[in-house]
Amino acid sequence: MKILVTGGAGFIGSNFVRYLLRSQKDVELFNFDKLTYAGNPENLSDVADDPRYHFVHGDVNDRRAVDRVFRHGFTSLVHFAAETHVDRSIEDASPFLKTNVLGTHCLLDAARRFRLSRFIHISTDEVYGNAPAGVSFTEESPLAPCSPYAASKASADHLVAAYANTFGVPAVVLRCTNNFGPFQFPEKLIPLIITDARQDKPLPIYGDGMQERDWLFVEDYCHAIALALETAELGSVYNVSAGAPQRNLSVVRTILRHLGKPEALVQFVEDRPGHDRRYALDSSKIHRELGWSPKVGFEEGIRRTIEWYQANSAWLDHALSGEYRDFYHRHYARRAKTIRT
Ligand code: NAD
Ligand code: DAU
Repeated sequence: MKILVTGGAGFIGSNFVRYLLRSQKDVELFNFDKLTYAGNPENLSDVADDPRYHFVHGDVNDRRAVDRVFRHGFTSLVHFAAETHVDRSIEDASPFLKTNVLGTHCLLDAARRFRLSRFIHISTDEVYGNAPAGVSFTEESPLAPCSPYAASKASADHLVAAYANTFGVPAVVLRCTNNFGPFQFPEKLIPLIITDARQDKPLPIYGDGMQERDWLFVEDYCHAIALALETAELGSVYNVSAGAPQRNLSVVRTILRHLGKPEALVQFVEDRPGHDRRYALDSSKIHRELGWSPKVGFEEGIRRTIEWYQANSAWLDHALSGEYRDFYHRHYARRAKTIRT
């Protein structure tokens, strides 16, 4: 099996590359990544010398570079590459539209011309928008994205469906809830809280901290993607979720308990504009059709995640340098002004 992965130097992509190399002998993987602030070759330094793994530096918007890589002749593509942080999309949506919409279009076009056998599109639960209390979205629920990030991902989903319908591109769409685990960039809630709490910094909790997310350990998601690569019905959409939603404040308290840090570090700050209160998915389809279910509970996953961040401070130092530091200071300096005491 010869597979092209886009965005494999990011959080989920790098975990997936490692997962597939470990679980399948007969696989050759090409990782096509632009290496934005979120893409880090260090995420895959342990497999860099594996003869089955190849890194290609490139942008999914660059049609010529995309064509060049497609000429290697792949059976399947797993498309992770995206701008992924909601707060950044609120600050400036342009890179989100470029990469998430136009970049996906560029790949769909190549998939059609090169007659790819399987296009796994990595979407998100955020395309359904805010879930009212008691509601779990199914794959048939209408898309109602609320943030610029979510709107860019929903646009990509529509393009994938249109290319499947119009040109027969053999697509499978996965819509997953929040992932956590090793190698997640420390702008996202869980690694941010681990990193800042370890340094006794104030922990910025948006609004009242009562928003709900359904955290899935990244290894479980990698397993779901691998199953989709092998057996998912072409033309299908699958929701993927842990089935154990939690409020943000409860996640933060669990991390503080593991680290032995005081709750006094929590600081309520101005809410994210347009903040989705709740995400909830019905993922019975993937259980039923592909036999997938999550194996790592939140307690075990968070323990493993915290241990990984504690053991990898050099990785963290590198991630926390440069462009990221600028965003962090700009973003949190603005929010800090409105901290409620
Ligand atoms: P990430 O931000 O950690 O990594 C994104 C990767 O894409 C980086 O390696 C980056 O360099 C690369 N990239 C960005 N723009 C590119 C471009 N123009 N060309 C080539 N490469 C480019 O992302 P992640 O959190 O691992 O998310 C991966 C995918 O999963 C995304 O599509 C995201 O929407 C989706 N998703 C993420 C989560 C989550 O909780 N992290 C949940 C559901 C869905
Ligand atoms: O639901 C899947 C999505 O999960 C993915 O599609 C996105 O790519 C990914 O970024 C993630 O989006 P969220 O906005 O849910 O993740 P984030 O880690 O940014 O925030 C999680 C929750 O924590 C959310 O309710 C906002 C809140 N939060 C976040 C940060 C960074 C805070 O309260 N304080 C913070 O500093």
